[in-house]
Amino acid sequence: MSNSRENWGSKLGLILAMAGNAVGLGNFWRFPYQAASNGGGAFMIPYFAALILIGIPVMLVEWNLGRYGGRYGHGTLGPMVYLQAREGTKPKTALIIGSLAGMIAFAVTLLVNSYYNHIIGWTLGYSFLSVTGGYADTAVSTGEVFVNYIQSPGMVFTFWIIALAGLGFAVMRGIQKGIEAWAKLMMPVLYVFGIVLAIRALTLGSPVDPDWSSMKGLNYIWNPDFSALSWRSAIAAAGQIFFTLSIGMGIICNYASYLKADDDVVVSSLATISLNEFAEIILGGTAVIPIAYAFLGPDGVGAGVGLSFIALPNVFRTMAGGQIFGALWFLLLFFAGFTSAIAMYNYLVALMEEDLGVTRGKAAWMVFLGYIIVGLPVGLEPILTKTADLAYFTEVDNWVGSNLLIVLGLIEIIAAAWLMGDGAFEEMNRGGIWKVPKWFFNVFHKLVTPIVIMVLIFFSYLDFYK
Ligand code: PHE
Repeated sequence: MSNSRENWGSKLGLILAMAGNAVGLGNFWRFPYQAASNGGGAFMIPYFAALILIGIPVMLVEWNLGRYGGRYGHGTLGPMVYLQAREGTKPKTALIIGSLAGMIAFAVTLLVNSYYNHIIGWTLGYSFLSVTGGYADTAVSTGEVFVNYIQSPGMVFTFWIIALAGLGFAVMRGIQKGIEAWAKLMMPVLYVFGIVLAIRALTLGSPVDPDWSSMKGLNYIWNPDFSALSWRSAIAAAGQIFFTLSIGMGIICNYASYLKADDDVVVSSLATISLNEFAEIILGGTAVIPIAYAFLGPDGVGAGVGLSFIALPNVFRTMAGGQIFGALWFLLLFFAGFTSAIAMYNYLVALMEEDLGVTRGKAAWMVFLGYIIVGLPVGLEPILTKTADLAYFTEVDNWVGSNLLIVLGLIEIIAAAWLMGDGAFEEMNRGGIWKVPKWFFNVFHKLVTPIVIMVLIFFSYLDFYK
């Protein structure tokens, strides 16, 4: 086994880098808009179910797949799935499953980045607008500010290109030291700042309508609403679990491939999930949704992909020091997105380097160009069509986020639990202090998780084509 791969510098660095990978715009931008568009309290029921029934088992599989694949010098999903699948099936079948997983993961990563990098650009643009007082005029609604932003080629493309260049630069310089160092600094600040904003959100009466207090917004998301449950909201919730935890595409696997052979995977998986869910539910959910509710009301919370950008400036433009706080908050969002995007960029570079034999520098350039090509239609849509509903963007996000990631999760779990089987269980429990109990593996990995995913896919497609 040749192994000249880099390893993580420290335990803390690894956990924060993984948190940086998982905690991203998915928590602060995607979660609030998905939860609000899918019925608030109705969304949270399948959300928690998916977290436990799918999120935890698949996260364990990804850390495990990654550490295992890394031993063979692989950091991407295709070869990793192949390596595990061949333990339990014919090499040819394993090759087909592995290639399928690898190709879908490649396509999904590109597609996610077609819009993800734009949102990173928006965060930078909004930091700029905060400092320059670009949304300070209360006579112009924040919804109009957002529409003006996405329809302004100057703003959209300038900040998008700056974001892309920053990413390419970070990845080219060899990201290990870069990511670890940045994550150690930015993640704690993000948490502290998020808590401050959440507290501010909860003490907000509505200046627009006495009936829209932020507490009502909290109620909207935390009051379980069984009557509004649907397959649509269920698959959206499961998709959000994949998106926010960075599972499905093999991005967690890639970071885990830099583990040493006996580094723990069980506690680390749970730590990644806990850090991410805290940021998602407590910070993303509590800060954004109640603020959105207080200013935009019950109908406004369903604003779609622009929700965070439409809701939050309302607070900053009415508070003392809002220009600075606003700029800081959007900069923090920028870093949250940046650390996730680095993980995805590194994944594509690793794929070209390891699986296709392209050098790192060349690969970084190719990914950069690829991102521009897939990102252009997303950026141009509101500009050319003079519309603001971001229909293409929403559709792509829906397809990758709520569909393809889930299919990938199913392939991963089949390779691990059904094909590699008990070997995967033993592998998972090597090293580390906590062990996954055998019953958990037998019940969840072998049965519940794959079945729940299949049922979800089946019924949501049925629903879709009805
Ligand atoms: N988890 C990241 C976020 O929440 C996004 C992401 C998705 C990153 C999939 C990698 C893979 O923003």
